[in-house]
Amino acid sequence: MLSFKLTNQHVVEHDADLYVGFCFKNALPESLLRDFSTLYAPLNEVINKRKFTGATGSQLVLSAIKKNKPVTIMLVGLGSEKNSQTDRLEYARRAMGLVIRAAENEKAAKVAVLMPDSHLFGINEFELTKELVSVSMMAAYHFDQFITDPAHKLTCDIEILLCAEEILHNQMSIGIEFGQRIGHAVNQARQWCDLPADVLTPTVLANHAIRIAKVHNLKITVYDEPTIKKMGMGGLAAVSAGSAQECRFVVIEYNTDLKNTPTIVLTGKGVTFDSGGISIKPANRMDEMKDDMAGAAAVISTMEAISHLKPRANVIGIAPIAENMPSGTAVKPGDIVTFYNGMTAEVKNTDAEGRLILADALSYAVKHYKPDMIINVATLTGSCAAALGPFFAGMMSNHDDIVEKLTTASKRSGDRLWRLPFHQDYKRAIRSHIADMCNIGNETYKAGAITAGFFLQNFVEETPWAHLDIAGTSFNVPDMSYYRPGATGFGVRLFIDFLMNFK
Ligand code: BES
Ligand code: MG
Ligand code: ZN
Repeated sequence: MLSFKLTNQHVVEHDADLYVGFCFKNALPESLLRDFSTLYAPLNEVINKRKFTGATGSQLVLSAIKKNKPVTIMLVGLGSEKNSQTDRLEYARRAMGLVIRAAENEKAAKVAVLMPDSHLFGINEFELTKELVSVSMMAAYHFDQFITDPAHKLTCDIEILLCAEEILHNQMSIGIEFGQRIGHAVNQARQWCDLPADVLTPTVLANHAIRIAKVHNLKITVYDEPTIKKMGMGGLAAVSAGSAQECRFVVIEYNTDLKNTPTIVLTGKGVTFDSGGISIKPANRMDEMKDDMAGAAAVISTMEAISHLKPRANVIGIAPIAENMPSGTAVKPGDIVTFYNGMTAEVKNTDAEGRLILADALSYAVKHYKPDMIINVATLTGSCAAALGPFFAGMMSNHDDIVEKLTTASKRSGDRLWRLPFHQDYKRAIRSHIADMCNIGNETYKAGAITAGFFLQNFVEETPWAHLDIAGTSFNVPDMSYYRPGATGFGVRLFIDFLMNFK
């Protein structure tokens, strides 16, 4: 567990185990050098000797003695001040990730951090504190509940002292509160993703949603499998047909007291395990498909966070949840399913199942809420992961205003998006001769991420809509100091930022 405390006492005057200062490349502040030299006299010499410049990802970690106790001093690089505002903030988050890693290595219980000046990142103290707090929690997250050897477990109890002038404390304390809510929500989504599929079944995930709704006074409706079939959600029922686990359809509502506020639907793919079904996947790395509910996890966890943070919009979180398995009762290639809105699709590949469950979710959203906007998030295609890799999720939309707002939220939050072309020309890829559409694109068209997007578009009618494909960004993202192997919780920070800044 991490805890955070504000202090106006000078950073080097604390009784800490680890003392931290940040600096931009080739711009080490005189005052920082002077202050930290009181803990480590030859600081200037060692900086030159080790050629520490403050480049992105650089760090200088020194052992010293304070009041006869061993302590550690750490300078962390923020990269060039000439980087874009987006990158400066991102490199600050990564620098904070390195601080948590150092604290873990040094088994530090108390870390004193000299807060950098928020204006250097083009934001205020509230925002910078929020970012550093949430990213610290993300860095500290570890999934070790199935490890029994205590020596193999990672205990991480750290008190972080944020040192800054008293005049900034008001803003910063709200930043701590927001940062903790966000960090918790991200880590909760990661934990659901990291849990194996035998533990996190559709029912269990739906029960987490129920628990959250109860505790935070959100309205919730959960439909079970017989009801889902009766309601005509043929896509969700088809995906679940081969599984011994029942499917669920979760709807959570957050309502503001404010008048004339828009209604925003967030919907996320919740496949608790994607074996591919009858179109079964290769054995290699199939285990990672326990993460195929990352979209639903992001949506449900976001709902918890916003129940506290109170955005100025009504937000509906919808999660269709199922397990995709082969068996004698499974949906077969060639089967035709009928969705909640009455449209039909030919299932040519049972591994293209995410779009089938989302088709029902989008139809339900449109019919029952007539929302001002729908944002869809899903680990939908290997094609998107292949195109963009692990650092950017694919964004598809033909509504430029949503794209702009999402892009802003993406740049600020660190959950990065890249828009893919979404032209009608791709739409013919999914035509079928015997149903309204086909669940995979014709091979001539390639562009699997985009053709999947066009499949979904059939179900949003005229609603302003964006689809985010997070197949590449939700699991095993390399080189990021604040992640570890496993889930990232992608989408939670993005959604919270998007909703909190919604105008
Ligand atoms: N869950 C996968 C997509 C995926 C792939 C997520 C890799 C994370 C990492 C999805 O259900 C799927 O299997 N998609 C198929 C679609 C194809 C059959 C049209 C794919 O991308 O291969
Ligand atoms: Mg079943
Ligand atoms: Zn699949």
